Amino acid sequence: MSTDETGDYPIIIEGLCNGFGDQLIHENLSLKVRRGEILGVVGGSGTGKSVLMRSIIGLQQPRGGSIKVFGNEVADGIDAQESKDIRPRWGVLFQGGALFSTLTVEENIEVPLRQFYPEISDNLRGEIARFKVKISGLPEDAAFKYPNELSGGMKKRAGLARALALDPELLFLDEPTAGLDPIGAATFDQLTSELQETLGLTVFLITHDLDTLYAICDRVAVLADKQVIAVGTIPELLALDHPWIQEYFNGPRGRAAQSSQDRGRKAKAQPDVAKALPDVAKALPGVAKAMDNSRESGA
Ligand SMILES: Nc1ncnc2c1ncn2[C@@H]1O[C@H](COP(=O)(O)OP(=O)(O)OP(=O)(O)O)[C@@H](O)[C@H]1O
Ligand SMILES: [Mg+2]
Repeated sequence: MSTDETGDYPIIIEGLCNGFGDQLIHENLSLKVRRGEILGVVGGSGTGKSVLMRSIIGLQQPRGGSIKVFGNEVADGIDAQESKDIRPRWGVLFQGGALFSTLTVEENIEVPLRQFYPEISDNLRGEIARFKVKISGLPEDAAFKYPNELSGGMKKRAGLARALALDPELLFLDEPTAGLDPIGAATFDQLTSELQETLGLTVFLITHDLDTLYAICDRVAVLADKQVIAVGTIPELLALDHPWIQEYFNGPRGRAAQSSQDRGRKAKAQPDVAKALPDVAKALPGVAKAMDNSRESGA
């Protein structure tokens, strides 16, 4: 365990380079993600936000640089031991959801549980999956539905439930509100914020949604010119005179999002979600303990 493991930055990226063929995506990119924050990641389409996320979780081998996740260097690949140690500590909601279409929501959530905790009993696995369905704000019967039986918003929640399957410390969300209507998007934002607070998550949140940035992000990192050109609170970013930042935050949509935020016109979390959440902290240690016991008895 390195010193960064207990430090304030679960993700530290330095000098990252990524590319495909002749196309350079990231050049000497650096970024530190603080423990317990919701970090918004913005940038024009194709600037490499998803590639950045994929590099951090080991799905994209960088050409150079360093990526430390919980103090483990992952830029040179994730070996079997690291995979076992650190992969259960993050959850990912991919752009587009990426649910397995031939599995029900419950079975989708069970996939990472089977992979990392194969010794857990079928009953407990099902119970954990249904608990994740509940904290993601889905109705109970959604657990037994297939992805094509869900609305777009429900698919996002199902993806979120799967991302939370292993009680991660770090949550990656790639465009979670894309394609949702404004109320659905605001409700999803509220859910993200409440889960972050209740579960003590660090959230890496890629988004184009200005409302999301204003409503729930502690800081925002801006990707442009193959690098993170700025990271800070929105007022801090507004003080910079980079043309993309000014156009993005001070353009008509940026100003509308800001005034909407000023008026506090955000949708509230659905009552059933809000009601379920106080139980989360209480229930999670129990689930984690059951998993530990199950692991010990299986070892
Ligand atoms: N596997 C790949 N092979 C070749 N090129 C790729 C691959 N993945 C991504 N790219 C290219 O890398 C660039 C960055 O892609 P990425 O998906 O990270 O963009 P993004 O910032 O997430 O965009 P968006 O906001 O549209 O989701 C794009 O030009 C894309 O075509
Ligand atoms: Mg993307």
